[in-house]
Amino acid sequence: MDTVWARDPTEGFILGRISELLVEGAEVIPINPKFQRRVLPFSDIFKAQEDDKDKDYDDNCEMVFLNEGSLLNNIRIRYYQNKIYTYVANILIAVNPYKDIPQLYSAPTIKNYQGKSLGQMPPHVFAVADKAFRDMKVLKQSQSIIVSGESGAGKTESTKHLLKYLCVNWGAQAGPIEQKILDANPVLEAFGNAKTTRNNNSSRFGKFMEVHFDKSLHVAGGHISHYLLEKSRICSPQGDERSYHIFYMMMAGAPESLRKQLGLTKPDDYNYLKTGCTRYFTSSANEKKLSAGQKSADHAKSGPLRDILLDDVEDFTTLDGALSRLGLSDADRLQIYTTVAAVLHLGNIEFEDNPEDTRGGCRVSPSKAKALDIASSLLGIDATELRQALESRVMQSSRGGIKGTVIMVPLKVYEANNARDALAKAIYSNLFDYIVNRINQSIPFQASSSYYIGVLDIAGFEFFTVNSFEQFCINYCNEKLQQFFNEVILKFEQELYRREGLSVPEVSFVDNQDCIDLIETKNHGILNILDEESKLPKPAYNHFTSEIHKHWANEYRIALPRSSKLKSHRSLRDDEGFLIRHFAGAVCYQTKQFLDKNNDALHASLEGIVQDSKNKLIQTLFATSNAQKGKLTFISVGNKFKTQLLELMEKLRKNGTNFIRCIKPNNKMIDGQFDGALSLMQLKCLGMTSVLELMEHGYPSRAPFADLYNMYKDYLPPELKKLEPKIFCEAMLHSLKLRDKDFKFGVSRVFFRPGKFAEFDKIMKSDPENLKAIVADVKKFLVKSRWLKAQFCALTVIKLKNKIIYRKRALIVVQKTVRGYLTRKKYGPRIKVLSKIKNLNGNLKKMEAIAGQLKKEKESTTNDINKLKNEIVATMDKIKKDGKIQPSAIDALYAQIVAKVDNQMDSLQKKLLAQKNAEEQARLRKIQEEMEREKKRKEEEERRLKEEEENRRKKAEMEAKRKLEEEQRRKQEEADRREAERLQAEQAKEALDERRYQERLEQERQDHELALRLAQESNGQIEESPPMIRNGGMDSARQSFKLNRSEAVKNQQAALAKGKYDLSKWKYSELRDTINTSCDIELLEACRHEFHRRLKVYHAWKAKNRKRTIMDENERAPRSVMESAARTPKLQQKAPILDNNSQRYFRIPFVRPGGDNSKRGWWYAHFDGQYVARQIELHPEKPPILLVAGKDDMQMCELSLEETGLTRKRGAEILENEFNKEWEKHGGGKYVRPADRKQ
Ligand SMILES: Nc1ncnc2c1ncn2[C@@H]1O[C@H](COP(=O)(O)OP(=O)(O)OP(=O)(O)O)[C@@H](O)[C@H]1O
Ligand SMILES: [Mg+2]
Repeated sequence: MDTVWARDPTEGFILGRISELLVEGAEVIPINPKFQRRVLPFSDIFKAQEDDKDKDYDDNCEMVFLNEGSLLNNIRIRYYQNKIYTYVANILIAVNPYKDIPQLYSAPTIKNYQGKSLGQMPPHVFAVADKAFRDMKVLKQSQSIIVSGESGAGKTESTKHLLKYLCVNWGAQAGPIEQKILDANPVLEAFGNAKTTRNNNSSRFGKFMEVHFDKSLHVAGGHISHYLLEKSRICSPQGDERSYHIFYMMMAGAPESLRKQLGLTKPDDYNYLKTGCTRYFTSSANEKKLSAGQKSADHAKSGPLRDILLDDVEDFTTLDGALSRLGLSDADRLQIYTTVAAVLHLGNIEFEDNPEDTRGGCRVSPSKAKALDIASSLLGIDATELRQALESRVMQSSRGGIKGTVIMVPLKVYEANNARDALAKAIYSNLFDYIVNRINQSIPFQASSSYYIGVLDIAGFEFFTVNSFEQFCINYCNEKLQQFFNEVILKFEQELYRREGLSVPEVSFVDNQDCIDLIETKNHGILNILDEESKLPKPAYNHFTSEIHKHWANEYRIALPRSSKLKSHRSLRDDEGFLIRHFAGAVCYQTKQFLDKNNDALHASLEGIVQDSKNKLIQTLFATSNAQKGKLTFISVGNKFKTQLLELMEKLRKNGTNFIRCIKPNNKMIDGQFDGALSLMQLKCLGMTSVLELMEHGYPSRAPFADLYNMYKDYLPPELKKLEPKIFCEAMLHSLKLRDKDFKFGVSRVFFRPGKFAEFDKIMKSDPENLKAIVADVKKFLVKSRWLKAQFCALTVIKLKNKIIYRKRALIVVQKTVRGYLTRKKYGPRIKVLSKIKNLNGNLKKMEAIAGQLKKEKESTTNDINKLKNEIVATMDKIKKDGKIQPSAIDALYAQIVAKVDNQMDSLQKKLLAQKNAEEQARLRKIQEEMEREKKRKEEEERRLKEEEENRRKKAEMEAKRKLEEEQRRKQEEADRREAERLQAEQAKEALDERRYQERLEQERQDHELALRLAQESNGQIEESPPMIRNGGMDSARQSFKLNRSEAVKNQQAALAKGKYDLSKWKYSELRDTINTSCDIELLEACRHEFHRRLKVYHAWKAKNRKRTIMDENERAPRSVMESAARTPKLQQKAPILDNNSQRYFRIPFVRPGGDNSKRGWWYAHFDGQYVARQIELHPEKPPILLVAGKDDMQMCELSLEETGLTRKRGAEILENEFNKEWEKHGGGKYVRPADRKQ
């Protein structure tokens, strides 16, 4: 049977064959014997291409079957061949190879991609960069390239390649600008990237890098916007993670003198570093350069970390070079390094309870006084002032105003720790802002610069065992980006197809606006509730959490932590966290630090001392800082991010958009390993499977007629330039021999199937010789179309002429007819009688003949006849001459003369009869015999007529029966109408519920997968089916992950359960055998029902999964029948009109899809009870197809008679003998009913 992709929890999809159709779906036997056979619902099975299993495609849209299974397979095959890039239409999918692929990014490769349309060269980030550049140039619109994917998927690497491509190709004339833009990356990475468990070089901030171009389209400058630097990392990296690279780079790579000057030793000497991993990234060569004093104990023991791209020793030199090229002087750079070192020393200041303080205050531990001294000297602050500011807080009595009394409030140990960390975080994050600012200043762009290409590299969807405010913000951002993606790719695309009149089937996607509202709405959005909480006199995270649950009590997207699938989350109390169901899965957030993280303002005393620092850089960092201006006016981190995001989305909406979706093939960060399930999940989260569904019928490339014309007019000779854009496009496309289905004309633009625009572009830009041939073709097309137009005009004129002639002729006919009528009315009666009288001459001649035969009274008879003759002549004369004679008089005269003739004739005949009586006797006998024969023939004829009459009667009866049934049905329908309306409403609601449920089921699955991944990563535990606490609507039976069966199937199952037989466990083949062999009529009927139901499900699935190019290849009944079945309401018939014993026969014409309409075939069906028992297909020019149930079920119509609607088709039903005649004519054997078959 069919080769399919079957879902697999670890591989994503595996190849197999369907072996059995079952109630719950199908049984699949994997082709690779290492996998077990399995039963899956049809939603987890996709059609696979049988031949060319190992063929790969540049663009996934070129595959024969566009589905999740083949998408994953294509990406997997290509990954193992080092082809890490693929397209889905215009979207690039990039799989992280975790290794260097030779020549993939070399200078010659860059050159090869320049000016090439998407699809002309193998897929590549360079192709996307080039497309963005060309779109910017042609469409005169700035462009964005959105690079997305999860941590470690390769976003930042892709971004670097994109920028390099743009700078190398169009920045060479820009001089140092180009180098500066490229230099920005190592600097940003040093200060903003860190080693995490998911990526050794993880960007802990988001960025939107704009490359600006001048009017001549050369690089003219740039701008970087950055988002959400992760601050918690500065003070406490955890486990195997490190803090920002710069700390380790300075300790490993800075010259000894600098290290000494800044008091830098080894990572485990610093509180802010020793909680995490303290090893350096170094190559073996550089490892040797490190002295023992630089290495942490762990590094000395376990050796260095390795990564192809990272080396802390070398990276410091690179960073220093980049900073100086960006215009930072030696002094500037020293200030920066000093500030970084100051943060580390600040972290080493520790506090203890002050035994001398009666108010429970604290003091700097005497053993850490040195750290305080170094930190204060590096920061340019007086040590005593710093000590005081850390140990206590200044408060001003509110009544006194500026002159109010200043009170020093001593801090507890934990409060002092918090104050110190807040200061360290503020210094580091302000330093990061400052560095980005300096980069922006060194790559300025003129306001007059024309357009820009912006590359967005921002963390993808994040989920950990413990998720806090950072994950909340980043996931909020990803919800927005996902919505944007849906809008651009799915919604706008479908709207455009509708507007342009292209019929492309609708693709549904989950709208995540509700989730965005949950976070950002003005009144009760989580961000707003958070800000409101901060403004309370005593803000508390529990109160904040309860407020959220209170406001969003009935929202599906948000739930209590105990509904999480992960065991560790369930231990959280209701007021300690919340769970949000994001588009990519459910994430449980712990709210404990939300309030602190949302407010990054320093308290006044700390703010004061840093602003008064003697260190110029520290002063600058805090010059415009967000000082604590009072609770009611502060700008929270969340709010600031919301505004930034709003600006970013505005930019993205204005620009042209390009997407790069990065995939991480395994969690081990190694090359040559493709984890199918992991990759599939990412493809789904990135929306690639929905795009594939859309593209199955879509047209990803398009261009307005005018643009296309402008793009190519320069390649063409003047005579073609004169054409109107639309005609130009028509002429070009028709002459280029592209297939009709590869492009479509909309109202204002042409649409191309995936990859076809590139083909078109390539042809257009091919060498002049080829172009000459194309131009010749276009001219030929134009001449042809003009000639066609001329022909059409001439034909129209001829048609008009013929019409005039026709009317002229018709007029004459009218005249002729009227005249004839008048004349006939006037002379008709006389002429008629005269001719009738003339006919009497014939009688006279007969009389004369009789008279001649008479042997007696011959003479007198002749006289009588002559007299009669004269009388006739006289009558005729009278009629002829009397012009005014009345018709009644004429008739009287005629009757008179006829009576006379008849009398005469009578008497003559009597005479003759008497005479001939004797002679006639013999002859009469002979005649009688002849008549006998004639009678027999007539009887035979009558019998035949009677039989025909009988057939006619039967047909009439049949028609009457049909009408009766129709009447019955109509009545039944009428009776059911009200019921149906009610049911319809109920069904609509159910359908809505069902859809919502399906979406939730998908969400559940996503949540489950996510939880599974987390559980695997963190050795956590996962529990099935958590109770859905607040959202109601889901009964416990629905909690399992089994596919929810449709209502119809459920009804059927319920009915079956109630009935005598439970066939749900029966195999398909067992059903068929029972039908063919059983004598138990009830069992047989039950089997037939179940058998046809499974066939129907199978055919429905097959139709959905059909090949793209060949439509309805397996049509089993004429389309009208299938359509009627689709329309038949699925209401249960209360009293079926048909009993199971009735034998009915039907015949309807049909045309094979794609066939010639004039070549009509016939489709015959014999229904034994509800299902087809025999089926004949007659096609002209093809041998007839005879099919018998029990043998050929797969090719036969599986619908019940009710569903086919055949009984309602006038003239479709035929007699048994008519069917049998056709059956036997084509060699069909005798039919035996299943119940009568011998075992
Ligand atoms: N095209 C590539 N060729 C070779 N190696 C790559 C490529 N892309 C990514 N890598 C490898 O994968 C690592 C992670 O990539 P990258 O830092 O770009 O991920 P990211 O998506 O930016 O992750 P994060 O969100 O954590 O910043 C890189 O350090 C590099 O080792
Ligand atoms: Mg990154």
